Amino acid sequence: MDLRKLKEALLLKWHGWVTRRKMNRVFSRRKDPFKYETSPYETARFNAIETALNGRRFRHALEVGCAEGVFTQKLASCAQRVTALDISGIALKRAGELLKGNSRVELIEGDIREWFNASNRRFDLIILGDILYYLDKSLVQPHLKETIGRLADWLDDGGLIILAHAFANPEELAKRRGFREKFERYGLTLASEKIVANNSGGVACLLSLLKSKQASKQGGTGALNEQLEAAVPKPRP
Ligand SMILES: C[S@@+](CC[C@H](N)C(=O)[O-])C[C@H]1O[C@@H](n2cnc3c(N)ncnc32)[C@H](O)[C@@H]1O
Repeated sequence: MDLRKLKEALLLKWHGWVTRRKMNRVFSRRKDPFKYETSPYETARFNAIETALNGRRFRHALEVGCAEGVFTQKLASCAQRVTALDISGIALKRAGELLKGNSRVELIEGDIREWFNASNRRFDLIILGDILYYLDKSLVQPHLKETIGRLADWLDDGGLIILAHAFANPEELAKRRGFREKFERYGLTLASEKIVANNSGGVACLLSLLKSKQASKQGGTGALNEQLEAAVPKPRP
């Protein structure tokens, strides 16, 4: 291993350790720290993702950064099998309680940048919600690119990737678009993109639906766009 690679590998270990510690601290302070179960905005965001799935059934979904499993539970109702990964053991313990007895869901503790999918799973749905900005740090930038490349590789022909990331200002919105563009560089095609607004102000979410090359050839995106449009909360007059 050359010196540059060694430095990158050490920085990744360090950043993974810092993130795990930080997330475990966030989850140990209280249950549902991101208010997935109580915030109308988060409910609207999850509903918009579900709408984007368009009633389709999936063979095997991967959820990256599943936290305490609130959306994992919804995924389990539309996928035969769900692999859900998170860096926080505390969040996963709660996810395990929420999903108790659901044999279709496998919870994995790990850093997505170091999870190399040794058993060669293929996915027809990959969900990345409010996760990529944890990896978008200048010191560990090469690993973000590599991770996106691996995720794109694990997608079946005909598969979908959904990106749903919050932003609070135009600069953050540009960064969220940047995530989607990184996937496009790996051959995925943007099928639709919407902003899910927060009626009480503050953050909104950029919801992007990317299709594998093969899926893009299979049909238009009009219906999906219309459904996404309907799911976006309207601003108060
Ligand atoms: C803000 S929550 C998002 C939860 C959910 N995906 C959503 O859309 O609302 C971010 C989650 O990503 C996890 N996470 C952060 N960095 C990670 C990494 N490198 N690998 C795996 N999970 C990570 C955190 O522990 C946390 O549970």
